[in-house]
Amino acid sequence: MATKSDPIPWADGPFSLIETPSVKRKSDHFYLKAATEMAHAHNVLIRSLNAILRQGPHIPTSTDPKYCAKDVADFLNYVRCWVQMVHHHHWVEEEFIFPEMGKFSGKPGLMDEPRHQHESFQAGLTNLESYSINTKPEQFEWKGPQGMERIIGSFSEQLTGHLYDEIEVLLTMGDLDSEEFKKTWLKAETIAKQSGNLKLLVEMVPLVLGSADKTYEGGEDFPPFPWFMPYVAHYGLAARNGSWRFNPCDFWGKPRPLAFGDSSSSIED
Ligand SMILES: [Fe+2]
Repeated sequence: MATKSDPIPWADGPFSLIETPSVKRKSDHFYLKAATEMAHAHNVLIRSLNAILRQGPHIPTSTDPKYCAKDVADFLNYVRCWVQMVHHHHWVEEEFIFPEMGKFSGKPGLMDEPRHQHESFQAGLTNLESYSINTKPEQFEWKGPQGMERIIGSFSEQLTGHLYDEIEVLLTMGDLDSEEFKKTWLKAETIAKQSGNLKLLVEMVPLVLGSADKTYEGGEDFPPFPWFMPYVAHYGLAARNGSWRFNPCDFWGKPRPLAFGDSSSSIED
């Protein structure tokens, strides 16, 4: 029986996932809950990035006899949605979470370092977004000077480095007032949820659900969506959208073989 730990490439690499803070530490202070939630959210971003990196090389391009324009179009759309998800995550932090944390802690520059790190991968992300929007299926290349691999490689180390670092910053916040921290965090989350539009919801929900591995340490309750959301995604939001084939998990958070990975790829529980 194959599992995630088999040597068959899955979306737990090439970029390693973040260890769940609450698995190793114990504390009732809110900083641990905040760091744990953020780690789960970052792992969604990393898992779907890994899914792109692991499947991209296996998608037949126009010179390949197995080329299928729809496969490429769906993959390009998946990549575009991933970029949007990363943009949205950082926009929420910059607009709501970081400023509120600066205010309540009395340290306006508290989250300056993570905010500055955002700038280090912004241009690369924008390039990838343009590529995913403007490339026709027959023009798609993974390898080569104009290929997608190179664009992702121009910023992926900075992005993932930031995703790891931000958790470490949150883990230093045990000296802040726990109740105030919680109030601020929840308020920022509520405002952020209200700021999303319908298009974002339609594209983000299937991507988040399909990249959140509920078998991962402490991941069984993430994302904190209502129980029926996987059904809404499966039968509504995602119906007829082939892009979600590239998700590494089903909408119920169960890992599955990558659609375009190594042909021997297999994951069972
Ligand atoms: Fe974050």
